Amino acid sequence: MGGRLPLTVLGAGYLGITHAACMASLGFDVLGVDTDQGRVDRLNAGNLPIYEPGLGEVLRAGRVAGRLRFTTSYREVAAFGDVHFICTGTPQRPGGNQADLSQVHACVATLAPLLGRPCLVVGKSTVPVGTARGLAAQLGDACPGAELAWNPEFLREGTAVADTLSPDRIVAGVTSGSAERMLRRVYARPLACGASFLVTSLETAELAKAAANAFLATKISFINAMAEVCEAAGGDVRALADILGADPRIGPAFLRAGLGYGGGCLPKDVRAFVARAEELGCGASLAFLREVDAINLRRRARTADLALELAGGDLTGVPVCVLGAAFKPGSDDVRDSPALDVAQILAGMGALVTVYDPAALGNARRARPDLGYAPTLADAARGAHVVLLLTEWPEFAALTPGGLGGLVARRTLIDARNVLDPGAWRGAGWDYRALGVAGGAEPARRPAGAVCMPGDRLADRGDGVAAGGGA
Ligand code: UDX
Repeated sequence: MGGRLPLTVLGAGYLGITHAACMASLGFDVLGVDTDQGRVDRLNAGNLPIYEPGLGEVLRAGRVAGRLRFTTSYREVAAFGDVHFICTGTPQRPGGNQADLSQVHACVATLAPLLGRPCLVVGKSTVPVGTARGLAAQLGDACPGAELAWNPEFLREGTAVADTLSPDRIVAGVTSGSAERMLRRVYARPLACGASFLVTSLETAELAKAAANAFLATKISFINAMAEVCEAAGGDVRALADILGADPRIGPAFLRAGLGYGGGCLPKDVRAFVARAEELGCGASLAFLREVDAINLRRRARTADLALELAGGDLTGVPVCVLGAAFKPGSDDVRDSPALDVAQILAGMGALVTVYDPAALGNARRARPDLGYAPTLADAARGAHVVLLLTEWPEFAALTPGGLGGLVARRTLIDARNVLDPGAWRGAGWDYRALGVAGGAEPARRPAGAVCMPGDRLADRGDGVAAGGGA
């Protein structure tokens, strides 16, 4: 199945490169297009311009098999493909919450007049509902044989190849049986492996992506709201999440409390969804997503406040080690990274911040050149008064109290991703704090209902370790 159906992929960003390489690995002839000549040259040389485990190998295999190539020419793309995938970015509009659709519009406006034969144009980018209907009309006007379908992409960074080759579900927003048949042909292999194929309208397909991301963000903010309540009331959010997750109706996924979500998708997609609902006159229906966003951002401020508190109320000149810059482990992406945001807030409070990340240092340096960076974890930690674990890379989760203790000046740690064993660290003399636990320690000693106020510290922990720093 699949044959030598020629496919093109418009936009060689995260989504486009992954989709192009994976489609080639499924046996299709694929031509990718991007306006950036340097990026195209790099991809044609088999070099990945992004960090994504396993994708480099798939890209190079496609190149070696002669099934994958990149160009800057839309004319070539129009002549080549029977199916064209729109994979351009839809970032947050500067100064607003809406999605910036300029790349999607530019790509369709460039392609449409060049199309000389019947074809299917398939949108994969995340767009506000209603966009596809407009693009379909534009395409139909330019080339009567060209049809539009919407097929949102649900891949995650870090597992992009597996998510593309073995998706749970394939959403086909179509307006004809022939478009549905073409998409079934494109995805024959994943469908044969058990992926579900959900046929729907253009609008529902667009909404599917926005709603899925909104739900995931809500689940994370829900558990982070519970973390706030735990901090105030003397609960432990890790135990609470385990209990909630054991209910099969709730499930354990996306209930990891901590510093919250970031990245190039969830934050901007939630905001764009709210903005679109307001345009549609149903803003009240999604008003709760504003709170989801607010809870998420509050975790960053709370983490910085905790560091301030642990430094004795003044971070001026205090050496602080930040572990993590990527928005999540397994990625070098620092877009809307909670870790980098916290590092920036701490630097703004006067701290001498040194950031270490196993993969994202280059991107972090470009995004926030004013922060301090170290090439190794040991260099970042040496002499620190406060250590903050902000991205749960395996090498951070594997840290030992003794190993890190030999590097720092003070044994003060904020585990903002809840990945370390509190008992082990406290037992080794660390002032260990986590998000979602009252004061970070021994909630049982607090009176029932006691509220953790800003500046509230466990000064009398009796472990011989100074909780404060700086002052
Ligand atoms: C997300 C969606 O999962 C994916 O379907 C969509 O196509 C793009 O957006 P991605 O941005 O790669 O994918 O990351 P994801 O793994 O979903 O994590 C998003 C953020 O949530 C990360 O910052 C992560 O650290 C955070 N997160 C995730 C939590 O804070 N707690 C959790 O329990 C899960």
